[in-house]
Amino acid sequence: MVRKPTPEDRFSFGLWTVGWAARDQFGAATRPDLDPVESVHRLAELGASYVTFHDDDVVPFGTQGSERDAILDRFKGALAETGIKVEMVTTDTFAHPMFKDGAFTSNDRRVRRYALRKILRNVDLAAELGADTFVMWGGREGAEYDASKDLWAAHQRYAEGIDTVAGYIKDKGYGLRIALEPKPNEPRGDILLPTIGHALALIARLENGDIVGLNPEVGHEQMAGLNYTQGIALALWAEKLFHIDLNGQRSIKYDQDLVFGHGDLFSAFATVDLLENGFPGGGPRYDGPVHFDYKPSRTEDIQGVWDSAAANMATYILLKERAQAFRADPEVQEALEASGVLDLAKPTLDEGETLEAFLADRSAYEDVDVDEVASRGFHFVRLNQLALEHALGAR
Ligand code: GCO
Ligand code: MN
Ligand code: MN
Repeated sequence: MVRKPTPEDRFSFGLWTVGWAARDQFGAATRPDLDPVESVHRLAELGASYVTFHDDDVVPFGTQGSERDAILDRFKGALAETGIKVEMVTTDTFAHPMFKDGAFTSNDRRVRRYALRKILRNVDLAAELGADTFVMWGGREGAEYDASKDLWAAHQRYAEGIDTVAGYIKDKGYGLRIALEPKPNEPRGDILLPTIGHALALIARLENGDIVGLNPEVGHEQMAGLNYTQGIALALWAEKLFHIDLNGQRSIKYDQDLVFGHGDLFSAFATVDLLENGFPGGGPRYDGPVHFDYKPSRTEDIQGVWDSAAANMATYILLKERAQAFRADPEVQEALEASGVLDLAKPTLDEGETLEAFLADRSAYEDVDVDEVASRGFHFVRLNQLALEHALGAR
């Protein structure tokens, strides 16, 4: 039996996840559209603590004035009734046909200005609802054809857009931070800021980059053949892991958005181990919400939607229990020592050691018996097998 989620688990779901009616490239919807108010109630019953949404998930595109207010009031009513909070808000700058060539980086300046206004209006809503994070997934910021984009200008416009939004947040005194969400491709042939590393490079050059970080998604890194745990580790190291999107992906192919753990399960174990236990030698920790961005598969009916939502949380809880057992096992501690894992936290130079002293240290170079050093076995396979046996619940 898997224990029930509690508020300490900090589970969060995008309304567009359970709300996906399963319309895809090849076929019509297989489920009815869900009322966001119903989703809030059902997710609360299942044990989630938060929801997140794109503006258009709650208020249909183009709705203005009192009609918009009425929809939002009804939504706020559901939040108040259930105790569910909004921890993150994001903006849909990809669905409407006007965004077919992107938003901040569209070749059409009218689109860029419209997108910026749409996003700024949504920042106000995010602040009003008490969200901490404002996600920007630039799904259509990209191209199919190299000749179709001035790539220098595209990065300039991307940076301008993000900086403008960040500056607005600061001017207004909102307690929001921006989290960029990298993705290598889909829906564009190639998307700008395709990986965590690309996004970090852009953030470093922003004027208001201090409040801009990352929202890495499991599947997006794995679509590029990358290691998600390594990616979020870099973001943590850079103190930029502001948010996470957990889901499942099986290798380099289209964005599958499976339930967390239903893709590369052993990689998911490593991810949860890092999120819950931190680095073995200490360092920054992630303490934000555990946010799922998956899609209930097209084969599922409404019951399957709620079963799949629950499955994300159950998988996370199981992996958390297994990761805690892994770290608590004395045999694992001994194996970590033997593999040198705990040694890596020790700086390479001694404290206060000058470069001069280091260069004069014969024991670091001239006198080293390199063959003897090379003969060391690291026993990583034994360590990995211990991790696997813990992940499988065999220990
Ligand atoms: C995707 C993305 C989106 C974003 C969402 C929030 O591949 O479709 O993961 O689901 O996370 O738009 O900005
Ligand atoms: Mn995705
Ligand atoms: Mn996502």
